[in-house]
Amino acid sequence: MANNAFSSKVGLIMAAAGSAVGLGNIWKFPYVAGENGGGAFLLVYLACVVALGLPMVATEFLIGQRSRHSAFGAFRQLNGNNRWQWLSWMCLTTSVLIMGFYFVVTGWCFNYLAEAVVNTFHAMSTDQLTAHFNGFIHSDLRMMLFSLVPIVLTAAVLWFDVNKGIEQLSKILMPLLLVMMILMVIRVLMLDNSMQGLRFFFHPDFSKITPNVILEAMGQCFFSLSIGMGALITYGAYMPPKQRVVYTSVQVAVLDTLVAVLAGVIIFPAVFSFGFNPEEGPKLAFIVLPAILEQMSLPWFSSVLFFSLLCIAALTSTISLMEVSVAYMVEVSEHWAKKNPRIKPLNRHKSVLLVAVVTIAITSLCVLSMTDAREWLSFGGHNLFDLLDDITSCYLMPLGALGMSIFVAWKMPLEGENGLTQNAKGLHRWVCIIYQQMIRWIIPIVIVVIFLYGLDIL
Ligand code: PHE
Repeated sequence: MANNAFSSKVGLIMAAAGSAVGLGNIWKFPYVAGENGGGAFLLVYLACVVALGLPMVATEFLIGQRSRHSAFGAFRQLNGNNRWQWLSWMCLTTSVLIMGFYFVVTGWCFNYLAEAVVNTFHAMSTDQLTAHFNGFIHSDLRMMLFSLVPIVLTAAVLWFDVNKGIEQLSKILMPLLLVMMILMVIRVLMLDNSMQGLRFFFHPDFSKITPNVILEAMGQCFFSLSIGMGALITYGAYMPPKQRVVYTSVQVAVLDTLVAVLAGVIIFPAVFSFGFNPEEGPKLAFIVLPAILEQMSLPWFSSVLFFSLLCIAALTSTISLMEVSVAYMVEVSEHWAKKNPRIKPLNRHKSVLLVAVVTIAITSLCVLSMTDAREWLSFGGHNLFDLLDDITSCYLMPLGALGMSIFVAWKMPLEGENGLTQNAKGLHRWVCIIYQQMIRWIIPIVIVVIFLYGLDIL
């Protein structure tokens, strides 16, 4: 694990929020909401954040705070044996698979930043923006090169162990991103037909709430809050023992949800005003955002600033994603080396290299899978990129969260020396008790029921 702690409570909250706020909010949330009924999706999503997301953020922070370990050592440390080690394996697998497609989209952001700098989107029509994006995702080489940029940058941050700098960056970035997004909201609301977009996003049509919509909303909630794969355990490990985990979690979840809702308020009015289709899928943000930015006063400056902020927001997420795998490799190799003296433990640099190489390989496969010619990279009609996106959010992260909630609820006592209610009085004590009941009963039951319904088993 990186050895520099966070300089302040705000710094830690901002860093955790930096992991949570990323492409999940600005790229993924609008397109998944657009495909799943707009307002109906938003309603189910918000319910998932309150009932599942919030307690799960607290759960991961708690695992880190009590164990002082990353995902690899945490379960062994808290349980005293290897019985829950499969959970750390799941965290590793999920982090590698998410990186596979997340870096592709981060590469799109870097490409769009480069294009914004040379003013490519100036005076492009709706159709031209769509054709431009379609052309781009069919140029494998360009996509691969642009995916390499964030992979190298992320690996460099982890290699030089400059997480402190990232904490500082998050503190500036987050407010700046919020201000930029609010300016965009104001501009978008002045467009013709914008109310139609707001109606689509805020007016729930209950007939659209299907089991699949609920499954998608749950997956999006886990993905957006970075839960169910150990990323937040790392931040928890830096929390002082007295820090109240539940309150920190509320701050992170509120910030993350605010950014996602703002993204919806920006994208949907523009979708209806410019005549795009809300069900465009993964390309939605990349065809609508340049059109909006062109309408801002100072379009060139606005575009460059926005795409720069988006790239940094994506990088603060990729750093926390890659950290899970890197910390895992360091700790697992140390563990093996203790058992077998012939095995040499991997140091942090070698682990970063190893994880970066594996990430490059999977990212390249995802890029290649996007052209129609690569049928061997499609499974059941879905290319590898879509498949990884879907499997990680809708299945692996909820499963990881299910395991972690059961672990904490049954392995970490409520009362006593190490209990959750330790030092808790008054209202805080009640919050702890409600939290424990939620992770003991509500979360496992809700996740299992959503799975069974979503998979058509019930
Ligand atoms: N939550 C991040 C986002 O919304 C993605 C992420 C998932 C980051 C899991 C770290 C771990 O973009």
